[in-house]
Amino acid sequence: MTQRKPRILSGIQPSGALHLGNYLGAVQNWVRLVDDYDCFYCVVDLHAVTIPYEPAELRERIFELAVGLLASGLDPDRCTLFVQSEVPQHAELQWLLGAVTPLGELQRMTQFKDKSDQWGSVNAGLLTYPILQAADILLYHADRVPVGADQQQHLELTREVARRWNGRFGEYFPEPRPLLTRGARILGLDGVAKMSKSKGNYIPLLAEPDALKSVVRTAVTDPARVRKDDPGNPHVCNVFDLHGHVSPIEDRDDVEILCQTAGIGCVQCKDRLSGNLAELLAPIRERAAELRAHPDRVWRILGDGAVHARRVADETMVEVRARMGLGPPA
Ligand code: TRP
Ligand code: SF4
Repeated sequence: MTQRKPRILSGIQPSGALHLGNYLGAVQNWVRLVDDYDCFYCVVDLHAVTIPYEPAELRERIFELAVGLLASGLDPDRCTLFVQSEVPQHAELQWLLGAVTPLGELQRMTQFKDKSDQWGSVNAGLLTYPILQAADILLYHADRVPVGADQQQHLELTREVARRWNGRFGEYFPEPRPLLTRGARILGLDGVAKMSKSKGNYIPLLAEPDALKSVVRTAVTDPARVRKDDPGNPHVCNVFDLHGHVSPIEDRDDVEILCQTAGIGCVQCKDRLSGNLAELLAPIRERAAELRAHPDRVWRILGDGAVHARRVADETMVEVRARMGLGPPA
């Protein structure tokens, strides 16, 4: 007997080309999960419109993100990769879930509070953002959601929304559980904040070796190491941490000792890192170039994914509308 694989849904914002933090922290994991789960991966463009943006750039960012995911090894024949706005049921379910979501819960989300504090005035979409996220997940009856620490609060809200909806309209949505990924938490070039596009502290995944080299050169190192003949402490240095993630183990061990004995300067150490990085990422870069040369292929993969996603989403919505008493009898 074949048992249905548990289902996963995860979403990623189309904030442009992937960076090393996305790759090591999430994408590598997404690639692995297709072995054991029925995976739905969604490029969440409807979430992206809640922050100021240029329409022409958004489409480009969606495309580049899809290229990055596919080039990183995500196999579209073994998972469902799609763009959220191509499946209108996300927005429909979001509206319906809004009816069982307490306003106070939305107002207390840290992501909302941070943004509204930062900007002063915000649009309603930023407040209802987590309901759309709940819809993304519940539409597909996802059992597990691979999330980082920053999204746990949103997932908890999704569970609560599912509970409330089930309480009101009958048991239907499973409460999705987090899948705490073994993905790494990668700090940015500043060595302080998590690597992110918006902080501008990132190493682009698809950059050419020269560009990688100059970006890595800007990384913050052990602040106590002022001169080249001072010994350094690799264990407080993010460059060393990155070596641990991308360099061969011998290289990493070598750098550790050389740093402690002032046998290597930081520039050299960084160049060694960017060299290793360039090598590690070369196959991804090549696949990306190949995909960019065939944009129709990329859009078709996304379109096929959306066809499948819509089929599943539609079944859910037929049931949801029926239970909520909407529309004519089925
Ligand atoms: N809010 C998530 C983020 O900013 C992205 C997201 C949207 C998501 N929908 C999702 C993540 C559903 C997991 C599941 O990273
Ligand atoms: Fe960091 Fe390398 Fe400089 Fe040591 S040598 S402080 S590990 S960059």
